[in-house]
Amino acid sequence: MLDSKKFYSKLGATFEPGIMNTLLLPRPGAKLIRFTGGSYDVPSLPTAEVKRIFEEASPQAWAEMLQYGGTAGMPSLLRELSTFMAGHKIKADPAKEIIVTTGSQEAIDLVSRVFIDKGDMILVGAPTYLQALSAFRQQYPKFVDIPIDSEGMDTQVLEEKLKKIKAQGKRAKMLYVIPSFQNPDSSLMTLERRKAVLELAEAHDLIIFEDNPYGYISFEGPMPTPLAGMDKSGRVMYTSTFSKMVSPGMRIGWITANPEFTGHLMEAKNNISICNDGLSQYAAAELFRRGDVERQIPKVTKVYRKKRDVMLEAMKTSFPKKAKWDEPKGGLFLWVKLPRNISSDELLKDAVSKGVAFVPGSLFFTKPVHNYMRLNYSLPSEDDIVTGIQTLGRLLKEKLK
Ligand SMILES: Cc1ncc(COP(=O)(O)O)c(C=O)c1O
Repeated sequence: MLDSKKFYSKLGATFEPGIMNTLLLPRPGAKLIRFTGGSYDVPSLPTAEVKRIFEEASPQAWAEMLQYGGTAGMPSLLRELSTFMAGHKIKADPAKEIIVTTGSQEAIDLVSRVFIDKGDMILVGAPTYLQALSAFRQQYPKFVDIPIDSEGMDTQVLEEKLKKIKAQGKRAKMLYVIPSFQNPDSSLMTLERRKAVLELAEAHDLIIFEDNPYGYISFEGPMPTPLAGMDKSGRVMYTSTFSKMVSPGMRIGWITANPEFTGHLMEAKNNISICNDGLSQYAAAELFRRGDVERQIPKVTKVYRKKRDVMLEAMKTSFPKKAKWDEPKGGLFLWVKLPRNISSDELLKDAVSKGVAFVPGSLFFTKPVHNYMRLNYSLPSEDDIVTGIQTLGRLLKEKLK
């Protein structure tokens, strides 16, 4: 037998398959109701629209799709992205300030490579997106946790921590933030706090990395203005994605930043993927041009709002009173706080044996916190939502006996 372990790099050795890739593998004959990842509602996928685009593509379009493209992305898509972002007050020159990425996840990886050195202080939400924490960890940063409440990141704590860091003669470099319907807790940062974050970034010379996959899935009115739309000095980098609003399988994400930063990010991308998939980029540009994206967002938002309501109603009747949650005003997740003596990591094992899965909250923190769980409502059917919540409710009540 090969002694595999001796070949790994220091970083590679840390890539042990995690709970989500082991416990939740499909098991033959066993049905699992998945309240796990932020996958798309399958009946709502724009299948017919994408099929039509390829059927109608010209020979020149096919040549462009099947050839290598520029690292920044297909020019037609970059123009569409610039117009789309302008609708949310973000100005980005398609020629030098936008890079198409393989989902936002690649953008996160690129930012961690280009901006983080070992030991750099990176400010993150507690909780925050687990796959961002894990991408940043590749560069061995020092995380500084900032608590999140129902109004987003607590800017008073942010200010206190920044002052403390300064008083110690140290410097924080970057703030990673998901202001709109953040993963995992779906909190929405108020305008006041958005302004405060930008002011603090100016005062302490931080760069901000704003991640906005969920802002478009807003149940009550238009998406609030992103930080990137209020940035005056080019210190906000902004990433968003097709994954939640149109299709995750297309793997279309993008990052916009000042041209200095995009130059470096583009060179980093060259080492990873050279350029994005031409088929997806062409389809994405056409979906924008034909108005399909504009139609798709309200359509899928309506579906998610209904599913959220079904989950909230089921939780109200089935969950014990000691479990607490806020009603999400957008996004795909419900974030549930359990009594301190309940570990959702343990609960998950029992739940999977009863045919229901969720994401344990511990994955979203840099420090050990075990009494939260994240429930996704975008993928399961309404019937499965009710059945799965009843099962979880029974398990929770047993644990609390
Ligand atoms: C906050 C956040 N950022 C980025 C991503 C990555 O999305 P994708 O790579 O599919 O665009 C996700 C996916 O769930 C997410 O929740």
